Amino acid sequence: MSYYKIENLEQYFKHYKKSIREPRKFWGKIAEENFVWYQVWDKVFEFDMEESKFQWFVNGKLNIVKNCIDRHLAKRGDKPAIIFEPNNPEEEAQTITYNDLYNRVCKMANVLKDQGVKKGDRVCIYLPMIPDLAISMLACARIGAIHSVIFAGFSASAISKRVNDCGCKFVITSDGSFRGNKTIPLKPIVDEALESCPEVEKVLLVNRTGADVNMQEGRDLWLAPLLEEANSNHVAQVMDAEDPLFILYTSGSTGAPKGMVHTTAGYMVQTAYSFRNVFDYKEEDIFWCTADCGWITGHSYIIYGPLLNGATTVMFEGVPSYPTPSRFWDIIDKYKVTQFYTAPTAIRSLMTEDYSYVNNHDLSSLRVIGSVGEPINEEAWHWYNDHVGKKRCPIVDTWWQTETGSILVSPLPFITPTKPTYATLPLPGIQAVLMDEKRNEIEDNQIDGSLCVKFPWPSMARTIWGNHERYQETYFSQFPGKYFTGDGALRDEVGYYRITGRADDVVIVSGHNLGTAPIEDAINEHHAVAESAVVGYKHDIKGNALYGFITLKVEGETRDRENLRKEINQYISSHIGPIAKLDKIQFVESLPKTRSGKIMRRILRSISNGETKEFGDISTLINPEVIDSIINGKI
Ligand code: PRX
Repeated sequence: MSYYKIENLEQYFKHYKKSIREPRKFWGKIAEENFVWYQVWDKVFEFDMEESKFQWFVNGKLNIVKNCIDRHLAKRGDKPAIIFEPNNPEEEAQTITYNDLYNRVCKMANVLKDQGVKKGDRVCIYLPMIPDLAISMLACARIGAIHSVIFAGFSASAISKRVNDCGCKFVITSDGSFRGNKTIPLKPIVDEALESCPEVEKVLLVNRTGADVNMQEGRDLWLAPLLEEANSNHVAQVMDAEDPLFILYTSGSTGAPKGMVHTTAGYMVQTAYSFRNVFDYKEEDIFWCTADCGWITGHSYIIYGPLLNGATTVMFEGVPSYPTPSRFWDIIDKYKVTQFYTAPTAIRSLMTEDYSYVNNHDLSSLRVIGSVGEPINEEAWHWYNDHVGKKRCPIVDTWWQTETGSILVSPLPFITPTKPTYATLPLPGIQAVLMDEKRNEIEDNQIDGSLCVKFPWPSMARTIWGNHERYQETYFSQFPGKYFTGDGALRDEVGYYRITGRADDVVIVSGHNLGTAPIEDAINEHHAVAESAVVGYKHDIKGNALYGFITLKVEGETRDRENLRKEINQYISSHIGPIAKLDKIQFVESLPKTRSGKIMRRILRSISNGETKEFGDISTLINPEVIDSIINGKI
């Protein structure tokens, strides 16, 4: 019996039970039957909870890129591996077959080696969403270098912090990037960042926009001529199962960004397994995840998960609104995309546009549609279901984190009945639990608590680069013996999980625990509301009270504000209860968002508490200018 693909609900429960009772057998069989190894492992896993040390496929030897590319060549050499859709639809798209990808990755691997990159070296990749980004990641992994991709929208200071933190000596970047109608210079940002990164020895440059750049002699080199000369064969480096594959920075609730370290074998096995099941992947599929490779979603579900399965993955350079708000739907139609995976923030912005943008397209190729990154509110879920999935395609609301490496809780399409706003059930191998304030495991359903995982899983991050103590403290100290996700969740009567938001977004009002996400859901149902963020602020009598920052749709702009406030509170009252009513409502032009589309509630919390002088690190904000306009705005 194979455990790699779940065919029906009965089998899901069977596999789930097996994965809990006999995790060694479960994961061992998946790893053995679906990947190529230079040497098999001695033990499937070994861990020490006390020290928060975890190892999977102990002493196994492999190369993940051999699994992503080489082993597919005999059967799928001419199959498209990556379809590149440029920012400008007038520019020719590129189809990169598995054979092409092999040649390009090998050339890049040889260039990196020639430039002195060795196994274990950290390589910073700061590139737009172009094939060179995928190729650079894979080339690093092929030679055993650790890639640290930094989203190409981060500022110079964010880059230098990350480069210095993990001691990168090499940077791969481009002259610039195209995003919508903008051309953004990247090289000058890197130049500025590197002024405070004395250890960087080489900067390798991709020519994307043709912008003039300064080349620092001895440090900076154009990649194209080096690639031209390079050999297109390369024998993949033998890696240990636990050798680091990549570092990816994620922000903590406080302090410097955390360099999450993912290792080779466990990450490979679980990203491949989750991709196969969560997206019901089939050989002829065209898979499209709209994330950027600068985030974990791009790592796991644009690059590694799809390529490990020999899939065709679409890589899109642009933005959903360019040249028109129908771009996503154009692309689905153009490539006959079968699985579409995006974020609620994108859905919410597209649903404010005229219906004709989505309704005028042939989306009949779609089979599964997915959501990731934040709770999807009920209104957005229905819009996605009705207008994109046409009530035909199951929505997979996938819950996971940079730290988890792969999807942990999600419906399986055509298998798990979906329920709006619920990520539903944990995948096999994932022992999700809810914990109460007294640190006891909650056995009952229909209760919310802190979401933890009580047994290790293969693709979990192993440490924070250079700071194992912080790793232990952040993830394993609140609930000893368990991994704490930092999220709150509710479990319904059948055991489905609904992520209610970050545990630090829970506000206790008059002794009642209120998750801000369900309140926002209620507000967003009001037809005049585009988006909202609710935070708690200190209140003399209630302890905390609720403050809502709300953006309006065009039609809402002309409405009487006082009436709107009353109506919104009525919505909340009827959806959740009068206890959740907002004490203050401020209508704002836009909300402060990180580059990955998350609302930075920390800032709103400060503003709501009248603390407007110091906002800490706001380098991940895409629109810092909104801060002043919110501070100066009227209630
Ligand atoms: O709060 C959860 C939210 O995003 C957090 C992880 O963010 P990040 O590491 O940036 O990774 C995002 C992509 C995996 C989680 O702690 N989150 C992620 N997916 C969902 C979600 N919240 C609700 N529903 C989801 N499906």
